[in-house]
Amino acid sequence: MKVSFTLNGDPITADVEPRTSLADLVRGEHRCTSVHLGCEHGVCGACTVLIDGKIARSCITLAVSLDGAMVTTLEGLADDALMARLREAFRTHHGLQCGYCTPGMLITAHDLIRRKGALAEAELRQGLAGNICRCTGYAGIVAAVAAAMDEHETTKSAASIAAE
Ligand code: FES
Ligand code: FES
Repeated sequence: MKVSFTLNGDPITADVEPRTSLADLVRGEHRCTSVHLGCEHGVCGACTVLIDGKIARSCITLAVSLDGAMVTTLEGLADDALMARLREAFRTHHGLQCGYCTPGMLITAHDLIRRKGALAEAELRQGLAGNICRCTGYAGIVAAVAAAMDEHETTKSAASIAAE
């Protein structure tokens, strides 16, 4: 079946089996290697992408359902200012570990900060709960996201004061 959508700003058309997942298509055919397959049933978050600006599990999204959609993987956020801030915070707070879960964590954190802003630690942990890491206590990851969120909120307030 033919499907056409936008991937990281570029229009693509693919000829896929009806059962082909978005994850298999973008990772296998379009070199979006930030998209990882862990559980392959929507639980671990390793395959998280944005579809029309909302986070989604690409392992349980059929590619054929995406005609006309805008799909963004971590590669598509390479030049995004908030993502740059998150990358720096993950480095500083040792949130980066195996690299398998990190792309999904970054996309979810980006979405949380963008949509919700100032969150208490418990809310932040709840927001990240759909992204599983097999090998850490999450402390570095949560500290990194909290730091990026604080910085983002400070920049937003400074910008709104300057605009007054
Ligand atoms: S691989 Fe998609 S949620 Fe685990
Ligand atoms: S650091 Fe990625 S699964 Fe543990």
